[in-house]
Amino acid sequence: MSDISFYREEFLNYLKSSLSEKEPVNLYEPISYILQLGGKRLRPVLVLIAAEACGTSYKKALDAALAIEVFHNFSLVHDDIMDDAPLRRGKATVHEKWDINTGILSGDAMLIKAYQLFENYEGHQFKELAKLFSRTAIEVCEGQQYDIDFETRDDVSIEEYLTMIEYKTAVLVGASLEMGAIVANAPKSLQKEIYEYGRLIGIAFQLQDDYLDAFGDPKTFGKQVGGDIIENKKTYLYLQALKNLPEQEAEQLRHLYTIFPSDSSQKVEAVKQLFEECGAADKTKNAIHDYTQKAFDLLENLDIKREQKQILKDLGESLLTRTI
Ligand code: IPE
Ligand code: IPE
Ligand code: MG
Ligand code: MG
Ligand code: MG
Repeated sequence: MSDISFYREEFLNYLKSSLSEKEPVNLYEPISYILQLGGKRLRPVLVLIAAEACGTSYKKALDAALAIEVFHNFSLVHDDIMDDAPLRRGKATVHEKWDINTGILSGDAMLIKAYQLFENYEGHQFKELAKLFSRTAIEVCEGQQYDIDFETRDDVSIEEYLTMIEYKTAVLVGASLEMGAIVANAPKSLQKEIYEYGRLIGIAFQLQDDYLDAFGDPKTFGKQVGGDIIENKKTYLYLQALKNLPEQEAEQLRHLYTIFPSDSSQKVEAVKQLFEECGAADKTKNAIHDYTQKAFDLLENLDIKREQKQILKDLGESLLTRTI
């Protein structure tokens, strides 16, 4: 019986075999660096599981899985520039290790490489994969722009936040599963349903990412804890806190989200305390559980193989207790 680690291992072998040291070194080395830095490999594993869940061998889905992971890593390289992030998976970000120009160009090449991988599919599969990928990639850009716009806006609603994370994160998780279904030539209705499962898990995933960004353990998280607070990101934690805090403390929080002190540790601690005392931290955890439960309800009714259905459920559950 296959489990999550089987698909992860198979993917990692395929990834390793695809990496080559080419010239110019300063273009390709950062690409190998980020792709080999580790990470959960959630999205490519979902592509492979979905392919088998819909009745074909995961082997046929390896190129789509690689495309998704290369795209994801491209988005991280550019995201780390945009978020001024020093750490990724416990190591220096590409723009810190090299420089911003290197991060931009290596990222661009990764985006193109991702597209290129779909050329390994024929006819209607190529068209469907490329179409889904293009739509998704544009949505990710839209989500990323909203994320940046929200940093300097003080009237962001929870609804707007949810749309933002749907675009920047959830659509790619949905697309990963749909790609597996496309490679398996699954019926359109199943492709859409499995996408929806991923979208819901993806929203829970980003809520959890926001939670861990504030309350994660710096030893395991692999990113700068408090980074979202430093950058004044309008996360679910922040928006719930504004709703729940008495006016004076809400005003204090709003003020903290306008300043960039040279030593940010006091700001981060003060904000985290406000998030906790007004129940925003608990509300975020509840929302993570609610979206995961919605996803599981949908999964129950999916017409896919029983073994892979269970693996998808296990994966969803393991995300709830993750520390990275
Ligand atoms: C980070 O994604 C970006 C988000 C959408 C939150 P992951 O948490 O999947 O990052 P890795 O690939 O495991 O490092
Ligand atoms: C990133 O969101 C989403 C994309 C990279 C598209 P975050 O900015 O929250 O991701 P992390 O926390 O840096 O991984
Ligand atoms: Mg970021
Ligand atoms: Mg970001
Ligand atoms: Mg984050």
